[in-house]
Amino acid sequence: MITPKQQVIADSITYWNSGKTKEWQDLNINFVMGKREGYYFWDMEGKRLMDVHINGGTFSLGHRNPEIIEALIKGTENYDIGNHHFPSPLKAALAKELATVSPEGLNHAIFGACGAEAVDLALKSARCATGRKKIISVENCYHGHTGLAVSAGAERFSRLFLAKRGEDENIQVPFNDIDAMEHALAKEDAACVIMETIPATYGFPMPEPGYLPAVKKLCEKYGTLYIADEVQTGLLRSGTMWAITGYDVIPDMIVTSKGFSGGIYPISAVIMNEKASSWIRIDGSAHMSTFGGTELGCICALKVLEILQRKETVENVAFVSQYLREGLEKIKSENPDIFLEIRQNGTIMGLVFQGKQGAIPIMQRLFENGVWAIYSMLDNSVLQFKPGILCTKEYCDELLERMSTGIKQAKTKVLSQVE
Ligand SMILES: Cc1ncc(COP(=O)(O)O)c(C=O)c1O
Repeated sequence: MITPKQQVIADSITYWNSGKTKEWQDLNINFVMGKREGYYFWDMEGKRLMDVHINGGTFSLGHRNPEIIEALIKGTENYDIGNHHFPSPLKAALAKELATVSPEGLNHAIFGACGAEAVDLALKSARCATGRKKIISVENCYHGHTGLAVSAGAERFSRLFLAKRGEDENIQVPFNDIDAMEHALAKEDAACVIMETIPATYGFPMPEPGYLPAVKKLCEKYGTLYIADEVQTGLLRSGTMWAITGYDVIPDMIVTSKGFSGGIYPISAVIMNEKASSWIRIDGSAHMSTFGGTELGCICALKVLEILQRKETVENVAFVSQYLREGLEKIKSENPDIFLEIRQNGTIMGLVFQGKQGAIPIMQRLFENGVWAIYSMLDNSVLQFKPGILCTKEYCDELLERMSTGIKQAKTKVLSQVE
């Protein structure tokens, strides 16, 4: 007799995405998502996991956050997705709120349904504003899978779809290399530089002191716009609403998504200054999206922004960041041969392990011990460690205990992989 879970896996292989389904099976991650609540989720057959992947920040406020669900349910009494052609009180309120929580001058917001759509829009906006086509991004960056976004990202994702663009349209420079950035910008033909403030899929390497402000200054010098992709780093995960302002940079555009939805109803946004938003005054119908900024999505995002601005939320981010750091430092000191480094800005963390693929066995042992954290796809030595910002002390204690056990158990395997 085949179990309901085995049936889902079989159907996923036959009808959904066989490659993706088998990828996890091959890694011994035999998991089908069932119940979810707060910072936990369960396999269909009952195995419980602590979620420290939180889909890149999507569940930063927890799975099925009751306040967001309540707002959504109440919203359905009067609203649906709305009409993308007309103004609406909810869209106007959300755009106004984004202007309030963003740096001075970023006063316009246009909405999308996902991160990549918003990235595409930001890139298009930069082209319209500058009359230039070239996009500069950093090596091993990740901005999503739509047309322009995937072509600006790592070749790992564009190759198969023949989406990589030529040097005249898109160039990449190494992260933290200001000379390479100036060399690219000095040609004075780039519409924009797009950067994740801390590149997530590359394992959260931290920007070196002064690097991001220097990039912004060069952008100003050479007439290029700066797009901060804050899809993973924004919304208080670093301790400030947008990580980029913590580095003293005011970008021309901020892209947000994931946690902006509260994990309940998809929505994304590009927040733009006057120059970057020129197209909306030239031709407001130049970009449209039926599901961009749905009214139900706006309701969820407004609730998210409300929760993020509470004093106790801000305080909890500081607590979680510091408490987990202390616990992880202890675990690191107990496993110095495999646990090499903790990269951190607030609740954004990358844990570096020994060997090129060190984070894969770590992920597997943590999974066995009831913790879900995933290796970085573009640097397999780093485990992405992304706790939710509302975690309690009790949750952190349990997490650290399970981390300690899982990391110890992975030791032999991690060391055996090192050439
Ligand atoms: C930094 C960054 N930008 C953009 C995206 C694309 O977002 P989405 O998957 O919603 O299209 C992602 C997704 O993981 C991301 O991490």
